Order: sequence, then C-alpha cells, then structure tokens
Amino acid sequence: MFFTKNFAGLLVFATAAVARISSTASVGAVSRFSNFALSPDDTSSQFAFTSCTTVVSSVPDLSGNVQNATDDFQLAEVTLLENEYPQSLASEGFELLTYAIKPNGDGTGTATTVFLIGGVTNDNLTSFVQSWDGITANGSTAVWTIGEVVCTVARVTCNFVMSPTPAVSNITDAGNDLLDAQIFQILDQFPFTTSVLSDNDAIAANTDGSYNATSSLQAGNVTNDELLPFANSWVGETISGEEAQWFVEAGSCVEQQD
Ligand SMILES: *[C@@H]1O[C@H](CO)[C@@H](O)[C@H](O)[C@H]1NC(C)=O
Ligand SMILES: *[C@@H]1O[C@H](CO)[C@@H](O)[C@H](O)[C@H]1NC(C)=O
Ligand SMILES: *[C@@H]1O[C@H](CO)[C@@H](O)[C@H](O)[C@H]1NC(C)=O
Ligand SMILES: *[C@@H]1O[C@H](CO)[C@@H](O)[C@H](O)[C@H]1NC(C)=O
Ligand SMILES: *[C@@H]1O[C@H](CO)[C@@H](O)[C@H](O)[C@H]1NC(C)=O
Ligand SMILES: *[C@@H]1O[C@H](CO)[C@@H](O)[C@H](O)[C@H]1NC(C)=O
Repeated sequence: MFFTKNFAGLLVFATAAVARISSTASVGAVSRFSNFALSPDDTSSQFAFTSCTTVVSSVPDLSGNVQNATDDFQLAEVTLLENEYPQSLASEGFELLTYAIKPNGDGTGTATTVFLIGGVTNDNLTSFVQSWDGITANGSTAVWTIGEVVCTVARVTCNFVMSPTPAVSNITDAGNDLLDAQIFQILDQFPFTTSVLSDNDAIAANTDGSYNATSSLQAGNVTNDELLPFANSWVGETISGEEAQWFVEAGSCVEQQD
C-alpha cells in the first residue's frame, strides 16, 4: 500500500531514497509505514523506529555520485546493524530508508536514515545508532567516517472517539482509514518528516457508528513538542481519510512511554 499518490513530497521521498524492505509475516493491517503496509502479525512483534541524521565522508570519495554514495553508505549501515542485531535482520524484519546524501560542500555529506527493526526496543536502537558517532564503517567500495549523529522522532499515543462520514461498518477498514486520516494530517503539517509509522493499539466500534481507537503515531524528524499539540488540535475537527471524513468527537494524546 503506497501513500504516495496525494503527496508530492513523498514522491521525492520514494525516488530520492534507497529503500531496503524485508518481508514481514503479515495478517491484519494494523500497522503502517508511510510508504508501505507493515502489517506485523502480532503485537508481540514490536518494531523499533528511529530517524537519524549523520555527517559522513568516504574514502575513496564517492560524493561525485550521490546515488552510488547513498547505496554504499546504506550497505555500511546494514553491515553495522547485522553485526549488532543478527537475529532481527535475519528473521524479524527490518527496513532502512536512506535519503540521498546531501553534499555539505566540504567533502562531507549529510545522510538521513529511517530505521525500522523488529525485535528491538526504541531505546536500544537509538543508543546503538548514536554510538556510531566517530566510527568508520565499510560499504562495498568505500570506508565511511560517521559523525554528528542526531536522532529525532516524535512518539505520541492518542485515544480518540472518531465518527466517519460516510459510515464505515467494517472495523478493519475503519481502523486503516482513521490511521490514514491521521497520517495525512501529519504529512501535511510536517512536510519535512522523514517517515510516519502508525499503529492502532486498540479499536472498538460503538453502536452509533463511531469508533474508539488508541493510535500510536510516530514521525521522524519531528519532535514531541511539535506533534503533541498538533494531534491534540484534531479534537472537535474533521480529518480526511481515503474513504471517510473522520469527526474527532473527543479524546486526547499523550507522549508515548517506551
Ligand atoms: C556507480 O555504481 C555503478 C554500479 O556499481 C558503477 O557501474 C558506476 O561506475 C558507479 N559510478 C561512479 C561515478 O562511481
Ligand atoms: C541492546 O540490547 C542488547 C541485548 O539486550 C544489549 O546487549 C546491548 O548492549 C544493547 N545496546 C545498546 C546500545 O543499548
Ligand atoms: C574495512 O575496509 C578496510 C579498507 O578497505 C579494511 O582494511 C578493513 O579490514 C575493513 N574492515 C572490515 C571490518 O571489513
Ligand atoms: C473487512 O474488509 C476487509 C478488507 O479490507 C476484508 O478482508 C474483510 O473480510 C472485511 N470484513 C467483513 C466482516 O466484512
Ligand atoms: C528535517 O527537518 C528539517 C527542518 O526542520 C529540514 O531542513 C531537513 O531537510 C529535514 N530532513 C530531511 C531528511 O528531510
Ligand atoms: C468509547 O469511549 C467512550 C468514552 O470514553 C465510552 O463511553 C464508550 O463506552 C467506549 N466504547 C466502547 C465500545 O468501548
């Protein structure tokens, strides 16, 4: 499931980035990444998610070809992750989305990667990526020096009573569409977000056609100070999914506790 169609910004995301997607066992679509359906089959399979920017340089210097440089740097990242999380990369599922390295004009470049790794906690993954500050890592053609690692992710959990127009009777469709509505809002408000990961922790149908949903919303390159007030501002407003307009009758969001 691609969410690129309505968002010019994400088309850039899709073409300028190198995506590495592993297969994940999938049953109900309860969890989504902004550019593909993640659909982990059970809630015990937690994915750690983070988005980090680093300043990199390579020997030999690959900066003359951004695509090759980005490919090679991502290989170096995957090798580091394989050594730290062999089990996760072999069988739990992972995705790395490495944005095209931006040249800084001094031989270094700014690299931004979104990490999604199964069977690891957010804290553990974030600490591991932050530990790359100052190390060198091998791609297939270059040796990379990594510095100035900064990881930035907003994580909020929202409990909303949401009412769709037109009515959506299928609870699976409702859960997906209300997540779409929330993702679309976030992408629209934060065009610089590197990725949005959303997941319904719980959803229940009320007899009047409304739904109670507990949604986890995570956005790379956005802070809680930005996302929390924005998500809370949906209460009393209508937000658009693909199938329905969702009136947010009541509820609130809090910072996620890991
Ligand atoms: C980029 O990578 C391709 C495939 O590995 C290679 O054929 C090409 O020569 C590389 N380009 C540069 C400028 O290094
Ligand atoms: C991540 O967790 C593993 C296993 O629990 C532990 O060995 C490792 O030190 C942790 N890494 C970081 C950076 O916290
Ligand atoms: C990384 O590459 C350098 C230079 O090519 C090489 O000397 C070193 O052994 C490599 N390290 C690993 C862990 O492969
Ligand atoms: C709900 O819709 C999904 C597809 O989105 C379908 O697989 C499922 O069978 C539907 N459930 C019911 C009860 O109609
Ligand atoms: C992250 O956000 C900043 C603005 O807050 C923006 O300048 C930067 O380009 C963004 N990073 C990416 C990879 O889009
Ligand atoms: C939905 O939430 C409302 C308000 O918190 C509550 O009164 C209602 O019982 C909930 N409905 C279900 C189906 O849990």
